[in-house]
Amino acid sequence: MNGSPRTPIRRALLLICALTVMTGFVLVLTVPAFAQEGTPPQPSALNPAGPNSAAIASLFNVVLVMATVVFVVVEGLIIISAFRFRRRARDASEPTQVHGNTKAEIAWTILPALIVVTLFVMALQAQQTLDTKPAAAAEQMTVKVIGHQFWWEYQYPDLGIVTATDLVIPTGKVVNLELSSADVIHSFWVPQLNGKTDAFPNHVNFTWMQANTPGVYYGQCAELCGASHANMRVVVVAKTPEEFDQWVKEQQAPAAEPTDALAQQGQLVFSAGACIGCHTIDGTAANGKVGPNLTHMGSRTSLAGGMLTNTEGNLRRWLTNPPGVKPGSIMPNLNLTKTEIDALTAYLQSLK
Ligand code: CUA
Repeated sequence: MNGSPRTPIRRALLLICALTVMTGFVLVLTVPAFAQEGTPPQPSALNPAGPNSAAIASLFNVVLVMATVVFVVVEGLIIISAFRFRRRARDASEPTQVHGNTKAEIAWTILPALIVVTLFVMALQAQQTLDTKPAAAAEQMTVKVIGHQFWWEYQYPDLGIVTATDLVIPTGKVVNLELSSADVIHSFWVPQLNGKTDAFPNHVNFTWMQANTPGVYYGQCAELCGASHANMRVVVVAKTPEEFDQWVKEQQAPAAEPTDALAQQGQLVFSAGACIGCHTIDGTAANGKVGPNLTHMGSRTSLAGGMLTNTEGNLRRWLTNPPGVKPGSIMPNLNLTKTEIDALTAYLQSLK
């Protein structure tokens, strides 16, 4: 059996319809899912929480609308043409032969050019917004952001604070970020607060962010930097100015002296072991610079480069086998005994 002559066209039509419907579904289902608010906060560029990301999101929305209109028009014309000009049964005649259509050609040259020029101008305007800090210099602060494999270090030069994993900022204030790297290229990205900015070794890149409301904003290293690139998270904790001032006071204080027996034992394990070679705890003999400063580790929401929440169980898990939790971790497995892990966990958690 040779089949009907329409079969290949029907197949093509079916395919086009199916693809169109599928694309539509994907758009309809995914866009609101990304934009949705909820707990835990959606680290989505479509759910902006500051002026920078708002400018980026509104540019994206315009591009999305334009692209959707172009998609619907082009796909619509393809489907209409395929239906209207299909080969009909028992119609053996050749279709009208045409060549060229000046009007159509001018239209499909000018229209895309206009769209591209419009997008170019809008992108320049968004860039202008990103370059214009909304606040006076007095309402700004500076944080040095240093990428490490695989965690972020945050230095507050004006406040004398060095911390890691959680970037704590006050709401409503412009935070100038000076980005660099201790090893390879990383990229600092908090979708709700800023655009991606690379962190290079031996070079400082500048960007800024401002959080409108208190909350925790998640981000991700956005430049492939090694085995645990995907585990190199960014956690921004935005506090009200009053809470932020309180946090600054706590961070400026030296490390708390452990009071309970287990934590005191942990302090001994820490200072007698390999820990002090890599970590700093202000006010103690530990002044290593390879790993995160742990002076107030107990006050942080996250650990292990932001991949784990800072709970007793996770800290225990981390100390038991760091490279097992975060592949490629520079902190080795120190083969700590259970007693040592208990003591260290109590000590580190007491460092509020
Ligand atoms: Cu750091 Cu990817």
